[in-house]
Amino acid sequence: MAEPTKSMQYRVLLVDDDRDMISLLSSWLKDAGFEVDPVMSGSEAIARIDVFRPHLVITDLVMQGMDGMTLLSKIHRQNPLMPVIMLSGKAQIADAVKAMHLGIAEFLTKPLTKDELVARVRYTLRLAAGESDSGANFGKEIIYRSEKITQLLEQAKLLAATDVTILITGATGTGKEALAKAIHEGSARKDQPFVAINCAAIPEQLLESELFGHEKGAFTGAQTKHEGLFQAANKGTILLDEVGDMPLSLQVKLLRVLQDFAVRPVGSVRGIPVNVRVISATNTDLEQGVKSSRFREDLYYRLNVVPLHLPPLGERREDIQPLLNHFLKRVGQRDNKKRKRFAPEAVEYLASAPWPGNIRQLMNVVELCCALTNTDIIPLAMAQKALRDQPAHVQTLKDAKEDFERSYLVSVLRVTNGHVSHAARLAGRNRTEFYKLLKQHHIEPEEFRTSRQATEED
Ligand SMILES: Nc1ncnc2c1ncn2[C@@H]1O[C@H](COP(=O)(O)OP(=O)(O)OP(=O)(O)O)[C@@H](O)[C@H]1O
Ligand SMILES: [Mg+2]
Repeated sequence: MAEPTKSMQYRVLLVDDDRDMISLLSSWLKDAGFEVDPVMSGSEAIARIDVFRPHLVITDLVMQGMDGMTLLSKIHRQNPLMPVIMLSGKAQIADAVKAMHLGIAEFLTKPLTKDELVARVRYTLRLAAGESDSGANFGKEIIYRSEKITQLLEQAKLLAATDVTILITGATGTGKEALAKAIHEGSARKDQPFVAINCAAIPEQLLESELFGHEKGAFTGAQTKHEGLFQAANKGTILLDEVGDMPLSLQVKLLRVLQDFAVRPVGSVRGIPVNVRVISATNTDLEQGVKSSRFREDLYYRLNVVPLHLPPLGERREDIQPLLNHFLKRVGQRDNKKRKRFAPEAVEYLASAPWPGNIRQLMNVVELCCALTNTDIIPLAMAQKALRDQPAHVQTLKDAKEDFERSYLVSVLRVTNGHVSHAARLAGRNRTEFYKLLKQHHIEPEEFRTSRQATEED
């Protein structure tokens, strides 16, 4: 689509109480072909909006009188879709991010260059007009028909234009990672890295160094310097997956990164500035985690600036049929075979089936059906069998770990006849920690204390 050009004369309302800044930015924008109306306060800006009818507002965050955030909320009360770019110093960016739930705005950090400003203005205008490529194609990998997902994607598309921190919640297999990826792809950062890390999959000691990096010799085994994922994601997007499973000690460090936009590698005294968009995802209830002190409240608020919830498939059954078709097509193309179809009774059956494993489970069922059917049409009986054979959900790593931990605890208690101190020693934990683990799993050591043979499986 056409870029805003001189001939289109986009109008930009520029708000800053610093005279030098105003004249510098004005000259940059005019050079680039924009019509600029510079004003020196928020109240002037409000008065000008109806007269000048800008396509975009650029405002400083910290100003005498009305500050940028107040101005933003006033503008959005009148014109909810008005694109606003907020300028802020490095020192204020953290507060700015926190305040972004007030509205959709973009932040640009000062000092900034002419190119940066002009590129961002053009991008924001294109996006607002729904003209950008990424705007039109937003979420094209995501298949849906339901009203719920339609609305969610509309919101996500607006958010993609900003750097706002997002928390994606939803059960296993509902497409959290797919959504995070779509937001990245639809953002100005799309040509920069998208880095996803599963916080549940990495042992605590390694996670810090994975995220923030380490210096050579920072700990035994750290033979070389290692760049962390935050640095690897610089200028792009980082997805902190299963963030609810992040150990408390690291939560503090993550919080600091989100406050300072700088990381400190293990063994280093120096903070390294990073420019990353943070998206986190969880299938656990973080609020519950906060209540039970497993998750820091301050970090929760920092991550949950804007929440996006992916409903389970059972709450958006309209999506089932298009998803079935999508995966049938994909399997056919991949295997270079004629595309199969489900018999109408099979579709009916699948459309009303429970899907505890959501889209991932549905995808697996389609795979299984295609693999096991020789004919073009997949019959009802095959769909039923596939759903029966296909474990409700391939367990998440976290669930698998929890199951393992539970059976491990049970086995050491068995071995020690429910003697907690002995069991703790075997497990290499102190008594207090061990008790805590037992409590987490609702295991009563007393039950193992009798000499009776432990009965099979609890
Ligand atoms: N709406 C959708 N359209 C097409 N494919 C989808 C959709 N939602 C999810 N998928 C696909 O389903 C699979 C599972 O999705 P994803 O990994 O994003 O789920 P998740 O919520 O992150 O799951 P988990 O909690 O297990 O990590 C992926 O292969 C993804 O590409
Ligand atoms: Mg995931």
